[in-house]
Formats: sequence, C-alpha cells, structure tokens
Amino acid sequence: MKFKKIIVTGGAGFIGSNFVHYVVNNHPEVHVTVLDKLTYAGNRANLAGLPENRVKLVVGDIADTLLVDELVKDTDAIVHYAAESHNDNSLNDPSPFVHTNLIGTFTLLEAARKYKVRFHHVSTDEVYGDLPLREDLPGHGEGEGEKFTDKTPYNPSSPYSSTKAGSDLLVRAWARSFGLQVTISNCSNNYGPYQHIEKFIPRQITNILSGIRPKLYGAGKNVRDWIHTNDHSSAVWTILEKGKMGETYLIGADGEEDNKTVVELILELMGQPKDAYDHVTDRPGHDLRYAIDATKLRTELGWTPEFTNFRAGLMDTIKWYTENENWWKAEKEAVEANYAKSGQ
Ligand code: NAD
Ligand code: DAU
Repeated sequence: MKFKKIIVTGGAGFIGSNFVHYVVNNHPEVHVTVLDKLTYAGNRANLAGLPENRVKLVVGDIADTLLVDELVKDTDAIVHYAAESHNDNSLNDPSPFVHTNLIGTFTLLEAARKYKVRFHHVSTDEVYGDLPLREDLPGHGEGEGEKFTDKTPYNPSSPYSSTKAGSDLLVRAWARSFGLQVTISNCSNNYGPYQHIEKFIPRQITNILSGIRPKLYGAGKNVRDWIHTNDHSSAVWTILEKGKMGETYLIGADGEEDNKTVVELILELMGQPKDAYDHVTDRPGHDLRYAIDATKLRTELGWTPEFTNFRAGLMDTIKWYTENENWWKAEKEAVEANYAKSGQ
C-alpha cells in the first residue's frame, strides 16, 4: 500500500525526528503529522527547516484519547516511536514509563482499531534481556542462539525495557484479537545527530567538548550493537511498506562494540589521550550484551544498512555535536548534576 498521510509519534525525539527527515527526503508524496508531547527529550529544533506543507507538529500526549482519536481518523498509518527511552531515568522514576510506554501505546492501538489504521510499533532489542559476552561462549559466540532473533523469549531487565516489552505484547494481542494491521521492529542501540546528551555516546562527546572527563559505567565490558539512526529509518520504512502483517523484524547492522572501546575511540577521534576517562558507579541490573540477528529483515524484505563504518559514523556524530553546541549546551550542566547524584 502507498501511504499519503502518516502520524509519527515521538517525531521530535532523537530517532523519530531522524525518521521524519528520512521520509521528507525520500518520499515526496507523504505528509507527516508528528504527535509529540515535547518532554525533556523532545525538541522542536529537531524538525527545524522541514517544509510546512510536508510536516505538521502537534504537541500533545499519546495517552490523550480525544486528541489521538481526532488525528488517527484522518491518517493512513501510525509509526509509533514515542516513549520514555532512558534506562537510568526508569531506575529513578518508573512512573512516566508506565504512562507513556503502556497507556500511551494502548491509547494509540484503540484508535487504530476504531479507524482500521495500519500500525507500525518501534521497539527495542532490550525486550529480550541480555546475552553472555562472546568471550564466555563456546566458539566465541558464532553459533546459533547467540544473537537475538524474533524467536528469542522476552526477558526484560529494567522498568524501561519491561514497559517496552509490555507495549509489544499489547500490539501482538491487538493483531491477533482484533485483526489490526501491525508490524513490530526491535532495534539495537542507535547513534547519530539529535540524540539527547543523557545517552552514552553524546554524553561522552559533549563531556570532552565541555572539559569534563568521559564516564564509563563499571569496567566498560558491556557490549552494545551500534546502528546509525539513518539505517534504522530506512529499515522502518521498508517494514512499513513491505512487512508481513503481524510479523516482528529485528533491526541491526552487526555493530557490536564494548563500551570501553567506544569511549577510547571517541577520545582518540577528539585528539585526547585514550585513558582520559573515569570509571564510575555501574548501572544497577546493567545488561551485559546485546546482539541482533537481522537475517529475516535482510533476506525477506531486502533491507541492507548503508552506514556500517562505525569509526566514520562516529566522526560525523562528533562533528555534528561540535558544530551544534547551541542545541545541547543549555542542558549540559543539569544532565551532569543529575548523574552526579547517583555517582555517575
Ligand atoms: P527519545 O527519548 O529521544 O524521544 C522520545 C520522544 O517521545 C520525545 O520527542 C518525547 O517528547 C516523546 N514523548 C515521550 N512521551 C510522550 C508522550 N506521552 N506523548 C507524546 N510524545 C511523547 O527516544 P529515542 O531514543 O528517539 O527512541 C525512540 C523510540 O525508539 C522509542 O520507542 C525507543 O524505545 C525506540 N528505540 C530506541 C533505541 C535507541 O538506541 N535510542 C533503540 C531501539 C529502539
Ligand atoms: O538497545 C536499544 C536501547 O539502547 C534503547 O532501547 C534505549 O532507548 C537506548 O537508550 C539504549 O539503551 P542503553 O541503556 O544501552 O543506552 P545508553 O546510551 O544509556 O548506554 C549505553 C551503554 O553505555 C550501556 O552499557 C551503559 C553505558 N554507559 C551509559 C552512560 C550514559 C556508560 O558507560 N556511561 C554513561 O555515561
């Protein structure tokens, strides 16, 4: 099906706004309505410069039934990014995570059901819990079952990942019980422009730009499977257009790196000594390793990632934060003061 009008929830956040840019640049026939509450993580500036005839920002809550009903009755598809997304915040106060990730998703599903609207749910690999480190696996993790697939049982660790897992299950139930036209994607860690500076990579880059030493949780052995946010966008669009109804697709670009390596690479790319960082208090319940097997998405839907050179992607990201100090500077002190409260 060709979509002319879509709603992108959370389209003023990091990944949602990158998706909106992607749609504007690649699909001239599509009009986007962004529904975003503009929480601390949402920013109008992320949509600056996009043509008014292509993108409309509606500031509001995805759990607002009347507003959601009004918007959904006039759309062809919903691409649902809006969420509370940061694990550390969910450990301090889970309440907004339950509200947005569960009640918000429920509210959208009910409207989609009423108006029979196509629904794509953007989720995370964290719903599967974590994997052992490769070094602790026989054959160093090249065997079957050593990356996440859509058959891996759910086993979330944090209030963030458990509310995302709950939202995925709601979506699956609405497909099975009500025949809603849905797809789900579970993606690994994104990086790129417009990511909030509370998150690992932008925090370290903006630390260095602010004369603060990067902060590594624990020993830094935890592994994340990095994907450039542009590749996430192209994958979501592919699934929206070509995905089989009711299916789940895992999105990843084979980008496993441990956190220590990433901090050292950022320091090197920014002309600093590789050891100029601090080890700080670890995150409680810290997931050890994530790794995605994206074979299904690649073979069944023909998607391939473009931005697979992590070093080059990181250099571009460093350049973006260096050139866009106005975008993050005002928040830096408060973000660091908040981390300092938990010894991080
Ligand atoms: P983000 O925190 O940067 O942005 C979230 C956006 O949602 C913000 O613009 C915020 O204002 C908006 N929002 C929050 N609550 C809302 C509400 N009640 N109503 C309307 N809008 C609301 O998050 P992100 O990192 O861009 O993640 C976007 C989505 O992608 C999330 O669903 C997340 O679970 C998923 N995801 C993220 C990653 C990652 O690496 N960041 C990886 C895989 C999946
Ligand atoms: O896997 C997908 C998930 O990736 C998404 O669902 C989440 O929305 C997104 O926030 C991200 O979760 P993580 O918890 O992996 O991301 P975060 O950027 O918070 O941390 C990445 C790793 O870096 C993690 O192992 C914790 C560590 N870390 C984080 C910060 C902020 C540090 O060592 N130091 C830090 O200062």
